[in-house]
Amino acid sequence: MSKVALVTGGTRGIGAAISKALKEAGHKVAASYAGNDEAAAKFQAETGIPVYKWDVGDYDACAAGIAKVEADIGPVDILVNNAGITRDGFFHKMTKDQWSAVIRTNLDSLFNMTRPVIEGMRARNFGRIIVISSINGQKGQMGQVNYSAAKAGDIGFVKALAQENANKGITVNAITPGYIGTDMVAAMPEEALKRVVAGIPVGRLGKPEEIAQMVVFLASDNGAFATGATFAVNGGQYMA
Ligand SMILES: NC(=O)c1ccc[n+]([C@@H]2O[C@H](COP(=O)([O-])OP(=O)(O)OC[C@H]3O[C@@H](n4cnc5c(N)ncnc54)[C@H](OP(=O)(O)O)[C@@H]3O)[C@@H](O)[C@H]2O)c1
Repeated sequence: MSKVALVTGGTRGIGAAISKALKEAGHKVAASYAGNDEAAAKFQAETGIPVYKWDVGDYDACAAGIAKVEADIGPVDILVNNAGITRDGFFHKMTKDQWSAVIRTNLDSLFNMTRPVIEGMRARNFGRIIVISSINGQKGQMGQVNYSAAKAGDIGFVKALAQENANKGITVNAITPGYIGTDMVAAMPEEALKRVVAGIPVGRLGKPEEIAQMVVFLASDNGAFATGATFAVNGGQYMA
């Protein structure tokens, strides 16, 4: 059945593929982004999906942004917390700014985005909350203590929130992508990326669409019995 979906970071990379796939599945979709107006305008022109700009690390901005989306297209039934960043570096050299930026965008954002929609979902007895965590939140990754901590935190958030809301028709799940061919991965040094691909049994990077189809399933009525779970989509790179 057609629902209203909001995808954070929904204008580029994995998020863009999720926005498009949810639209193709028949949902009304809104995509948020942080600051890349050019990419967002191009995405909106190509897909017809409306875009909204705010920082998911800012609670008041999230509340205001969600209110605007809900006024424009209706109450949010499906929330995809996808927006995320990396600020890599070894921990013994990591600055407080690198730490805080990653925790704020990848973990605080879950409170900021989910808190304003959860009461409405509970009142309507339906909700789908999907968090894009990471393989590196499960296995840890050198150079990413901040990111691994935030992404592991995402998984704890999902497990606890799922228990609180299972009796209200709300499911809460995490997807842990492996390495997917997006701008985030393109920013890695070439040699490091080669080493990563060599360690993926499927022998290639994942495609954003391969994450998006998992989201479509979890958002659907058929996904109703899956909650509090972590779905790894990583080409066999890590089997938790
Ligand atoms: N790519 C991978 O291999 C991989 C693997 C595992 C997990 N993930 C996770 O998957 C998610 C998407 O990754 P991606 O590779 O698609 O990233 P990406 O290509 O860098 O796109 C990130 C998206 O998030 C938005 N964003 C970033 N910071 C934001 C903020 N503070 N407020 C609102 N929006 C913000 C960006 O907006 P702008 O366009 O305005 O910058 C953009 O739309 C992230 O959570 C990432 O950690 C990625």
